[in-house]
Amino acid sequence: MAVIILTKSEIDKILAFSGEFEISADLGKSLRKVRTEGGCLVIGQHKILLSIFKNAKENTCYIIHDGKLEAVAFFSEQTQLYYKLVPTGGWPTLKISSTPMHRHIHLSPKEDTELKLRAVSPVHGKVLDTCCGLGYTAIMAAKNADDVVTFEKDKNVLHIAEFNPYSEELFNSKKIKIMNNDVFGEIRKFPDCYFSRIIHDPPTVAYAPELYSSEFHGELYRVLRPGGKLYHYCPNPRKTKGKVYYPKLVRRLKGAGFKSAQWDEKSSGIVSTK
Ligand SMILES: C[S@@+](CC[C@H](N)C(=O)[O-])C[C@H]1O[C@@H](n2cnc3c(N)ncnc32)[C@H](O)[C@@H]1O
Repeated sequence: MAVIILTKSEIDKILAFSGEFEISADLGKSLRKVRTEGGCLVIGQHKILLSIFKNAKENTCYIIHDGKLEAVAFFSEQTQLYYKLVPTGGWPTLKISSTPMHRHIHLSPKEDTELKLRAVSPVHGKVLDTCCGLGYTAIMAAKNADDVVTFEKDKNVLHIAEFNPYSEELFNSKKIKIMNNDVFGEIRKFPDCYFSRIIHDPPTVAYAPELYSSEFHGELYRVLRPGGKLYHYCPNPRKTKGKVYYPKLVRRLKGAGFKSAQWDEKSSGIVSTK
């Protein structure tokens, strides 16, 4: 059986209902029958004390570990970062030290991913997904691509993804190759004109300045085949309070050789063609 993963809304049902009822133990992907019996919740082969469900918090995904409720969240001494899988009602997002890795307030992470992929449709051939995260862009790209190479430099992120029911295909799809490595250095190993599409969805500039550098843009250009398309996420701080960043990025991408580079407001990114 896949990991049991619960949020406050499902835990509230567990505490409120008795007898047989349905809950989602996979963040809304499916419903399953459970029952209460002698102060326990019976779910599949598992019998879990109901008392462990008290004090569950909002905005947290929980697993059951050693008979205890445990948040899918941890601090890494190595990176000095805090990782947390955060429920959104559908596909969860990942927060790294409070910064979400997907847009999730005005639209869902699923819609966020769809818009990115749509911006470079049709997605086909060999695809490079520079920043794997929870694997949503890789999974969606793999639906129509021949194959997808996805890079994630942080093993903690891949560890969190293992708990996420919506990341399952990342690990199961024969079309997806996960590289637990830094794309900045590794991209040099690909031949010229190798990819038909590139999805570049880096964290913020402050967190990964090298992924917004001219040097990296030059590599993105080199490994893209003529006629290929690049999607480059660009934070749009105008919506909050910072400066508008995308005109600078458009200039840089053109400077790297891209024929066109156009800001796409909907996906918050720049679509470039070679
Ligand atoms: C915005 S998230 C990507 C979200 C992803 N597209 C998805 O579908 O879930 C950015 C990810 O890039 C990773 N990252 C940052 N720098 C990287 C690098 N140099 N090489 C590979 N991955 C990197 C971060 O650890 C983070 O998980």
